[in-house]
Amino acid sequence: MDNVTVLGTGAMGVALVRTLIAGGMSVTAWNRTLDKLETARSLGASCENECAQAMLSSSIAMVCVSDYGAFHEILKRTGVASSLSGRLVINLSTGTPEDARHADQTVRDLGGSYLDGAILCYPGSLGSATAKVLVAGPEDDFARGQRALTCLGGGLRFLGPNIIAAVVLDLAFLSRLMAVVFGTIHGANICEVEGVSVAEFAALLPEDDRSRTIAEAIHDDNFHVGPMGAAVDVSRGALVRLWQQAERAGIGDEPICLMLDLVNRAIEAGHEKKETASVITVLRAQRAH
Ligand SMILES: NC(=O)c1ccc[n+]([C@@H]2O[C@H](COP(=O)([O-])OP(=O)(O)OC[C@H]3O[C@@H](n4cnc5c(N)ncnc54)[C@H](OP(=O)(O)O)[C@@H]3O)[C@@H](O)[C@H]2O)c1
Repeated sequence: MDNVTVLGTGAMGVALVRTLIAGGMSVTAWNRTLDKLETARSLGASCENECAQAMLSSSIAMVCVSDYGAFHEILKRTGVASSLSGRLVINLSTGTPEDARHADQTVRDLGGSYLDGAILCYPGSLGSATAKVLVAGPEDDFARGQRALTCLGGGLRFLGPNIIAAVVLDLAFLSRLMAVVFGTIHGANICEVEGVSVAEFAALLPEDDRSRTIAEAIHDDNFHVGPMGAAVDVSRGALVRLWQQAERAGIGDEPICLMLDLVNRAIEAGHEKKETASVITVLRAQRAH
């Protein structure tokens, strides 16, 4: 049985462990906070306390941590750099084009092979027929990782050798998602102010779409973050990444700034950890003035 190492067992890392095992792979897992290995262990993964030991267990390592800063901190852990030679690292953490280039160069300088990827679905959907996972890098490295990557979902796409392609498409996809989120909040604001039930608006939206979750949360005035949701601070993080890309590339940042202003006001009002739909409360307060 092929073995794959998974570094990082947060929400998405655990989903990687689950889908790889379901796909017939054996998995070795490591996480910086050792307590958080328990779910991976209960799913059938072998767990290592030392990152380098986990690396040595497989020829392929999938990494899914908060950001590329965390990715580089992992590479600096004892024995990890020297374990990279001949191994394939598939980084599925979210980042920017510069992050992808830097990670690729660093791993290759240490003698490893590198694929850069992005996961465009929630952890609960990983492994499903529609789960979108993007991967970029050399074709022969993709061929090495293909069997493991195929376990991650029916929407796996190999984008070829341009190492920044996955993070660029991830940003573009995120931009569309943010427009849907804030467009839906504005739509609910129109309904509320004109006296038409937001439930009627929600009923018009596709059942498994983020827009429906947003409209229903606003109708119910329930801003608890559900499995298909995201908190205001998570949306802010996504918008900051989009803003940074716009600044660096010299493209217009106006749409992003409008959305950022709204999330910043929601955070000031204390909604940081609430569902992003809670931005409606900022718009409701504005109506009175
Ligand atoms: N969750 C989603 O809906 C979703 C969807 C698409 C993409 N993603 C992407 O998937 C990645 C992981 O997200 P997640 O939801 O799994 O986040 P999470 O549950 O917050 O887990 C974060 C992981 O990163 C690790 N980490 C953070 N800093 C580290 C460091 N300095 N050194 C080593 N490990 C470090 C954490 O280890 P500790 O446990 O030790 O803190 C944990 O394993 C992110 O890039 C995210 O953007 C997530």
